[in-house]
Amino acid sequence: MPINKITQPFALIIFGASGDLAKLKLFPALYSLAQQNRLPKQYYIVGYARSEKTSKQFEAEFISSIKKVHKVDEKVLNDLLKHLSYVQGQYDKKEDFVRLKTYLKTLTKKTNITKLAYFSVPPIAFKSIIQNLGETKNSSNEDLRLILEKPFGEDTKSAEELFHFVARYFDDDNIYLLDHYLGKPAVKSILSLRHANRILNLMMKGPEIANIQITAFEQVGVQSRAGYFDQVGTIKDMVQSHLLQILALIYLLRLNRLYFLPDKSVPAIEIFSLKYIYFLKN
Ligand SMILES: NC(=O)c1ccc[n+]([C@@H]2O[C@H](COP(=O)([O-])OP(=O)(O)OC[C@H]3O[C@@H](n4cnc5c(N)ncnc54)[C@H](OP(=O)(O)O)[C@@H]3O)[C@@H](O)[C@H]2O)c1
Repeated sequence: MPINKITQPFALIIFGASGDLAKLKLFPALYSLAQQNRLPKQYYIVGYARSEKTSKQFEAEFISSIKKVHKVDEKVLNDLLKHLSYVQGQYDKKEDFVRLKTYLKTLTKKTNITKLAYFSVPPIAFKSIIQNLGETKNSSNEDLRLILEKPFGEDTKSAEELFHFVARYFDDDNIYLLDHYLGKPAVKSILSLRHANRILNLMMKGPEIANIQITAFEQVGVQSRAGYFDQVGTIKDMVQSHLLQILALIYLLRLNRLYFLPDKSVPAIEIFSLKYIYFLKN
């Protein structure tokens, strides 16, 4: 069995399936999973967006975005397409979510499988989707999980407001906050460096290193995302999430007294690292 094969059946509902993130990242990532034989026997990929399009048109977009990234094995792709469908609907209309729910019930043959709602929409649409999903949820037994792409609000106040809003409908355990930048191999390898390379590990804690520079090297331009960058801004898009996360990960390599922290999870250590940097600066 391939490493990390998903064995549990699931239905992935991609809100904003007509958008940039879906085409640039999510569809090619789904193909990668299929190609590596990491998907279970029973799964469904449901694109949801306001744009009027037929399932065939959606399928054509899905294929074209995958082909831009991957050299495609037609058999793998054709098999993946059997699991794909499209539902057109608004984000702020409860009746559209009732229709989506009925559709999912028929599709999944009434089995209570895990449903993953992926928020590939601008943050302005988050609350409507959360509320409509929450209000049309069957019961507390329904396994419905939310995957929210960063940014989570625009500042501390709006982020807290958003978290309180989600908490009205969903338990913390069912909410996944995702910053896909952290899935990049170069970023992922920062943590393993601490454990895998003893020499570097020791040096990181000592006085040998005068400064550490983090370079954000982007080849992709603004493209069709002018609206997003106009609203969010490049500093908030890159610095407050991606680069601060990397800074925290790198800085925690320099800390060697973590044993006193009650919570040793990576997010808790990252927060500690950032507070510690602030403390040193002041
Ligand atoms: N693109 C990236 O590389 C990237 C990187 C990091 C994080 N993100 C995050 O990922 C999410 C999606 O990004 P994206 O670039 O895919 O966004 P996008 O292309 O601007 O929007 C995705 C879809 O959402 C719908 N939409 C657009 N504006 C809307 C509005 N004002 N109200 C309601 N729906 C709207 C549109 O679909 P319909 O009109 O068909 O419904 C659109 O196709 C955002 O939270 C973004 O911050 C994106």
